Amino acid sequence: MIFKRIRQFFRALTARITPDDGKYLATHLNAEEQRLFFAMSTADQYHSLRTAYTIERLVIQDKQGIDREFLIRCALLHDIGRVKGDMGIFGKIFTVLVSELAPSLADRLELKGNHLMFVYRHHAEMSGRKLQQIGLFKEAKIVAKHHAKPTPDDPYELKLLRLADEAN
Ligand SMILES: [Fe+2]
Ligand SMILES: [Fe+2]
Repeated sequence: MIFKRIRQFFRALTARITPDDGKYLATHLNAEEQRLFFAMSTADQYHSLRTAYTIERLVIQDKQGIDREFLIRCALLHDIGRVKGDMGIFGKIFTVLVSELAPSLADRLELKGNHLMFVYRHHAEMSGRKLQQIGLFKEAKIVAKHHAKPTPDDPYELKLLRLADEAN
């Protein structure tokens, strides 16, 4: 887990959105959705694109009758609760380390109103709320739970999103 996070940080330092990525976004997101996407930091944009590319591969392998476009939207927009400037790279390292290594300190920081800790822990619900505001209710339901503890009756789409998110 922690090593995966460290790899993410290094990747985030070199993150870049290519013209092909731009085309991909224009194909799968409307203007309003793109506005939310581009409000994220470049590192999160990069992570969300990779999550979408992974989810596409999972869906192809799987061939069950699931809505591919719906899943791509969920992947591209799952972290929009985190906005550019909310958390720099060092803020992110700090919150991840504290959360993983000292969960009770993380609890205390959140209770004291630490903004970084709040965003880190609640961005999934915040993403869900933003999606509701633009009428994407079905997407909001899945996205709001992407960091919640898995339960046996989680929808299949949520499981795929978690898998793809974890891999990136
Ligand atoms: Fe997330
Ligand atoms: Fe994510």
